[in-house]
Amino acid sequence: MNLKTNAMYSVPKLEDYSPDGLERARNEFLSALDTDVLNATTEEEWKAARDRWMSRKSGLLSQINDTWLKSSPPEHRRNTGQLVNELKEIVTGQFSQTPDAILGRTKNQALAAERLDISLPGIQRAIGVKHPVLRVMDEIVAVFKAMGYSVGEGPEVETDYYNFESLNFPPNHPARDTQDTLFIAGQERKPARERLLLRTHTSPVQIRTMEKQAPPLRIVIPGKVHRNDPLDATHSPLFHQVEGLAVDTNITFCDLKGTLDHAMKALFGSSVKTRFYPSFFPFTEPSADMQVSCIFCGGKGCRTCKFSGWIELLGCGMVDPNVFEFVKDNGYDSSKISGFAFGMGVERIALLKYGVEGIQLFYEGDVRFLEQFS
Ligand code: DAH
Repeated sequence: MNLKTNAMYSVPKLEDYSPDGLERARNEFLSALDTDVLNATTEEEWKAARDRWMSRKSGLLSQINDTWLKSSPPEHRRNTGQLVNELKEIVTGQFSQTPDAILGRTKNQALAAERLDISLPGIQRAIGVKHPVLRVMDEIVAVFKAMGYSVGEGPEVETDYYNFESLNFPPNHPARDTQDTLFIAGQERKPARERLLLRTHTSPVQIRTMEKQAPPLRIVIPGKVHRNDPLDATHSPLFHQVEGLAVDTNITFCDLKGTLDHAMKALFGSSVKTRFYPSFFPFTEPSADMQVSCIFCGGKGCRTCKFSGWIELLGCGMVDPNVFEFVKDNGYDSSKISGFAFGMGVERIALLKYGVEGIQLFYEGDVRFLEQFS
């Protein structure tokens, strides 16, 4: 039998189902396949070869199924089945892809078809901008850094001691009611001062800093704070503050006024004026609310300043000697040193600076809002 001429091959009837016989049939079948594959040089010939081997009805694959397997004696069925399966896999694999040579492609053309053009511009991703709240917070910090202040931070999950007690809010004092917050559950067995809560202000970092650093001290503390405040146009249960603390010998209320007046002019422009109104905070004595002349009407009176010409912006005061008592072992002797402190809401300043209508715009992540700050 001349195996080189594919036309000669047709599936023979199998008489010998012994392993040797099957092996012989296998080899003849495969060399006929090789011949056909090699002889196909055009796409038509390739397709014709594929039909001849794989056509459902009369392809050579179907034929070995019918001629070899179906008529195999039961005791050889297993081996014959395995052989037919093996051949089926080989033939299917052989014809699964038309070779590049037949498609008229050289190896280089084939590679070129797969080439990735890395000089294409790619998908452009919009560059983000600093969030307006962060931006204002950084700006405030920069104003104080320029005056020689250093920057400190503290934990957002704080103990009752740092958030309240050491700031002269004694247990059960009504001043605590103004700063309700979330407490961490399951701490009933701990002493009250060790219980954890979400800090309501950045003031606890005053004590934390004084514990670590002896006077003199000038520090600003930016950070996130939490309160049980329902969301409205100017309040949010989560917001940001920048705290300040200066301690040295002979620090007076004058220093406080001069420092804050300078800071407000740096933030809002040199024509802005400040004034100080008596107020109350447990940790400062005396305490004050600082107001700025309305940046929208210049002090003439408008809706934003409720026609008063002034806008309340922050709390401040002279550090209460009771606060220094908690850190007296670190050099804070209130007969020798004094200090002032202040705390401001960042969102409040950002709302004014950019004329934003509602605080919630800062948290919604609406790109149309945020991209205005690019
Ligand atoms: N911690 C106060 C608050 O959140 C703000 C404040 C007022 C901070 C007076 C101070 C201060 O340092 O001296 O309401």
